[in-house]
Amino acid sequence: MTMRTRSLGTTGPQVSALGLGCMGMSALYGDADRAEGIATIHAALEAGVTLLDTGDFYGMGHNELLIGEALRTAPAARREQAQVSVKFGALRDPDGGWSGYDGRPAAVRNFAAYSLQRLGVDHIDVYRIARLDPDVPIEETVGAIAELVEKGHVRHIGLSEVGAETIRRAAATAPIADLQIEYALISRGIERSILPVTRELGISITAYGVLSRGLISGHFTADRKLAANDFRAYSPRFQGDNLQHNLNLVEALRKIAEQKGVSVAQIAIAWVLAQGEDIVPLVGARTRERLAESLGALDVVLEAADLAAIEDAVPADAAAGDRYSAAAMAHLDSER
Ligand SMILES: NC(=O)c1ccc[n+]([C@@H]2O[C@H](COP(=O)([O-])OP(=O)(O)OC[C@H]3O[C@@H](n4cnc5c(N)ncnc54)[C@H](OP(=O)(O)O)[C@@H]3O)[C@@H](O)[C@H]2O)c1
Repeated sequence: MTMRTRSLGTTGPQVSALGLGCMGMSALYGDADRAEGIATIHAALEAGVTLLDTGDFYGMGHNELLIGEALRTAPAARREQAQVSVKFGALRDPDGGWSGYDGRPAAVRNFAAYSLQRLGVDHIDVYRIARLDPDVPIEETVGAIAELVEKGHVRHIGLSEVGAETIRRAAATAPIADLQIEYALISRGIERSILPVTRELGISITAYGVLSRGLISGHFTADRKLAANDFRAYSPRFQGDNLQHNLNLVEALRKIAEQKGVSVAQIAIAWVLAQGEDIVPLVGARTRERLAESLGALDVVLEAADLAAIEDAVPADAAAGDRYSAAAMAHLDSER
C-alpha cells in the first residue's frame, strides 16, 4: 500500500494522511503493553505512517521515552521518515494529578530541551502548547517556539484546542502548520467558528478523538470495566444514560458499515478523512490489530450518498454528554 500524504498547512510539511497518536500507549486509557506499543509504532512506520503524536506529560515522559525507543530500534529509512509532533505545557504532580499549564518562554525552552533528550532526536517536527496558558499571551508562547525554529530545534509550530481569536493572534506571530483539536462524527464543534478560520489562514487540522476515545469504534460495550486511571471512567460521554444513548448511535452507524462491508471504526475514520484535504486524523491505536483496522479506513470510499446516510444516522449534535469533564472543559479556549 502506498501511503497518501496531506500537507500540514500551507507552510508545513507533507505528512501521512493518517497520523498515529501514541498517548494511550503510556497513559489515560488504563494499563498498556509497552512492547505492543513499540511494535505498533514499528508497524505504522512500515505502513508509511510518518506522523507520530505525543505529549511530554503523557505518563510524565514515558510516552516520549517509548517513542524514542521505537525510533532507535526502527530501520534507519523508517526512522528518518518519522515526524514527531509534541505537546508541552501541562503541569503534572507525582500522584498523576494535573495542575495547570505553563506557556512562559523560559518554560517552553525547558520543556523542549527535555523532550529532545527523551525522544533522542535532534529536532521536534511540530511543537505546540497543549492548552492555552491563561496567564501568558499566546504571542509569547508562539514567539518562544519560533525562536526554537530559528535555532533548528523545532521545524514547525502547531496549536492545540484553541479558539478562533487565539488562532488569529498566533498566526499573526509566526507561521502555524496545524491546529490539533477533537473532531469526529460526534464532536463537530469546530465546524462553527474554528474550521472557517483555519481554512482562511491556511492552517490544517490534526484531528484527535476521531473514535471519540473508542466510544464510536464499534468495539466499546456498556459492560466494559474501566480502570480508575482510565480517562473514560470519568468522561461524561461514557456515563450511564449518556453511554447507552451514544452506543445506540454506534449501532445506527454499524448498519451503514455492514452495508459497505467495512468496520464501524473504519467508517468513523473515513468520515473524518472525507471532510477535507486539510484534515489529518490521528488514530489512537495501541495494538497492531487496531492499527491495521484504522489503516483500512484509507481504502474506504465514501460517496455523497454514503456521507448523507452517515450524518443521518449520527446527526451533528447527537452525542449525549460533553467531551470532557466540567473542570477540563474550563481549560479549553476552543470552547469559549
Ligand atoms: N491535543 C489534545 O488535547 C489531545 C487530546 C487527546 C488526544 N490527543 C492525541 O490524539 C491521539 C488520538 O486520540 P485518542 O486516543 O483519543 O483517539 P481515538 O482514536 O478516538 O481513541 C483511541 C482508542 O479507541 C479505541 N479503539 C478501538 N478501535 C480502534 C481502532 N481501530 N483504532 C484505534 N483505536 C481504537 C482504543 O481503545 P482500547 O485500546 O481501550 O480498545 C484506543 O485507545 C492521542 O494518542 C494523542 O496523541 C490530543
